[in-house]
Amino acid sequence: MKQSLLALMLIPCALPALAEKPHPERLEHGRQVYLQTCSGCHDTGDSGAPLLSEPGQWSQRSDLWEAVLFKHANEGYGLMPAEGGDPQLQEYDVDAAAEYMMSEIFPERTTD
Ligand code: HEC
Repeated sequence: MKQSLLALMLIPCALPALAEKPHPERLEHGRQVYLQTCSGCHDTGDSGAPLLSEPGQWSQRSDLWEAVLFKHANEGYGLMPAEGGDPQLQEYDVDAAAEYMMSEIFPERTTD
């Protein structure tokens, strides 16, 4: 238990890519998109989606970090549908949602 806690605390240090703080409006937009489109799987684990509430499920993925995660969110990855399954979404929306997710999963990375 202690060890996994320590691992969680170390994750943000290993991920320097999200140094810039997302713009609050973009983050809010991302939250809306997330709630509308992404939460169906990422809040429930549907299709085996990693849960937003479980940072441990993201620790391996986040090694890839932004560029790859955002690409996967837009283009699809395994059972993860392109654009979260909503072709109405623009790349900006999907990126904002992914950014929101990352800020929730690793809050240390986006707060002062
Ligand atoms: C139909 C269910 C579903 C929806 C809706 C969904 N996801 Fe996913 N998502 C998944 C699954 C399943 C995975 C794991 C894919 C794998 O590892 O094979 C995943 C993985 C991801 C990943 C990690 C990709 C990686 O490279 O490891 C990101 C980022 C992500 N989703 C973002 C989003 C965003 C942003 C949205 C909304 C726009 C969204 N997802 C909507 C099911 C979904």
